[in-house]
Amino acid sequence: MVRRVAITGAGSGIGLAVARAFAAAGDEVFIGDISEERLEATKATIPTATISRLDVTDFDQMSAFGVTAAGTQGLDVFINNAGVFDAYASITETTVDLWQRIIGVNLTGYFHGCKVAAQLMLPNKRGRIINVGSVAGQRGAADGLSYSASKAGIEGMTRRLAIDLGPAGITANVVAPGVTATDIRKNSGEQLGGMLDMNRGIGASPELWDFLIPARRGGTADEVAAVIEFLASEKASYVTGQVIHVDGGWSAT
Ligand SMILES: NC(=O)c1ccc[n+]([C@@H]2O[C@H](COP(=O)([O-])OP(=O)(O)OC[C@H]3O[C@@H](n4cnc5c(N)ncnc54)[C@H](O)[C@@H]3O)[C@@H](O)[C@H]2O)c1
Repeated sequence: MVRRVAITGAGSGIGLAVARAFAAAGDEVFIGDISEERLEATKATIPTATISRLDVTDFDQMSAFGVTAAGTQGLDVFINNAGVFDAYASITETTVDLWQRIIGVNLTGYFHGCKVAAQLMLPNKRGRIINVGSVAGQRGAADGLSYSASKAGIEGMTRRLAIDLGPAGITANVVAPGVTATDIRKNSGEQLGGMLDMNRGIGASPELWDFLIPARRGGTADEVAAVIEFLASEKASYVTGQVIHVDGGWSAT
């Protein structure tokens, strides 16, 4: 069966790898991203994908994105992935503006995606919601204050979502990457307009990886996409409300 799969923030990095994987499996892929430039580049590499400019902080835009992705057949898989990184900002560096921007995209944006996906999936009694979290949801040293709060919030929201949607046969899970090679620093720097020095934190310190990451390397976007593909597959039909780390063992240390 060809599935209809919607992915936010798939103009780059992990989302792009996920979109490629579903498109290669023959699924109908719908990509939303705030960057027109990255959307155009994505369309050039995945010509079968449908692209939409989307700001996840705007509920009406998210609704329109979900309705397009559902079409008349219904939405099978929804992946909340669009995220902004706060460059390891501490409590003193986290201004009210920075907090609101990070929480707005990484947590409120995910709530918008979960609400729209649930509304579209409940009548059909099928669907998979996958939220891309982070090792920062459980490890304080991984990222900044607002980013860590947003990623921990995603985990709580997903557990509650699993309770609400389980009776309808819809699963909801978090995939939590560790250090993953993407352009998140550059892209987030653009979005935050030079508010912070983006080149900080453990992701920017390969010398710390030997100590913190048992695999002794960063991961790839394809390694994260593989776990998302599994959670969207029939093989994961009894997995819900879970946080699955794809972090080379970092969360085990
Ligand atoms: N790269 C890592 O090391 C890492 C580690 C853990 C978790 N993550 C998470 O993985 C997800 C993807 O990150 P990535 O590394 O691929 O980053 P990325 O910057 O390569 O991709 C993120 C995409 O989200 C888009 N985006 C940002 N704000 C948006 C908005 N308001 N509306 C719509 N789109 C928006 C960006 O334009 C970008 O294309 C994020 O949720 C991030 O927090 C990344």
